[in-house]
Amino acid sequence: MSEAVLILGATSAIARATAAAFAARGNALYLASRDEEELRRIAADLRLRYGVEVHYGLFDAEATDTHEAFLKSVVTAMPNLSGMVLAFSYLGDQQAARDFSVGVKVIASNFTGAASILSHCANYFEPLQRGFIIGISSVAGDRGRQSNYVYGAAKGALSLYLQGLRNRLYASGVRVITIKPGFVDTAMTYGLPGLFLVASPQAIGERIVATLSKSADVVYLPWFWRYIMLIIKHIPEPIFKRMKL
Ligand SMILES: NC(=O)c1ccc[n+]([C@@H]2O[C@H](COP(=O)([O-])OP(=O)(O)OC[C@H]3O[C@@H](n4cnc5c(N)ncnc54)[C@H](OP(=O)(O)O)[C@@H]3O)[C@@H](O)[C@H]2O)c1
Repeated sequence: MSEAVLILGATSAIARATAAAFAARGNALYLASRDEEELRRIAADLRLRYGVEVHYGLFDAEATDTHEAFLKSVVTAMPNLSGMVLAFSYLGDQQAARDFSVGVKVIASNFTGAASILSHCANYFEPLQRGFIIGISSVAGDRGRQSNYVYGAAKGALSLYLQGLRNRLYASGVRVITIKPGFVDTAMTYGLPGLFLVASPQAIGERIVATLSKSADVVYLPWFWRYIMLIIKHIPEPIFKRMKL
């Protein structure tokens, strides 16, 4: 039986491309998000195109009290689970910064919900002494900017969480990879002003799967975002605070 990969937020454009890249390698898949009808369509398409086993199920990042039972149902369906990709996200809008009742949803899905399911996955893989966890964070988490600092703060916290998890799981042989995409052409960025060097979800999905055959821990996608963010992170705060970013 081929090794199975759990994809959370599987209806996202980047997740679809990642799922297709895993399926092309022959991996079985468990797709999860809140939209069952769309999951059914994606699963049928992947089975047809790649001939792999694909299961799907409902998962809500914000419903943290359901996460333990959710992971148990995944493992029951796919006892050969070898890894997971955390791809769900809620960007929110400008209101998130002014109105905390909106901002809390951004934090709840991007960080609290992510930390919850990651902790269950880590507890599952750790005693098995194998497996991988790929967490999709964002370059937005590298430095706070006025245009999206609530989302950025949640992603920055996720990056730190993944870093700690990597440190914890290293001894057990479980690999933890942090992916930091720049701008990608998806529903999340559609119509946003100021986008540049926008990558296709297909290219990002393929690179995400390719990281498993490399030794990198933190991967910027495309690669040049590492250098863009290096520059942005080193702009002195007295200058940075005056910039319109
Ligand atoms: N697009 C970019 O430029 C960009 C840049 C940097 C990082 N990223 C990151 O890359 C990942 C994928 O991004 P994308 O642009 O492909 O996303 P997207 O198309 O906006 O999709 C996000 C997905 O998250 C799922 N989702 C939202 N809230 C959820 C919740 N509470 N529980 C479960 N699923 C939930 C939604 O699925 P359902 O509605 O089916 O539940 C949706 O399909 C995200 O982590 C994002 O932060 C994207």
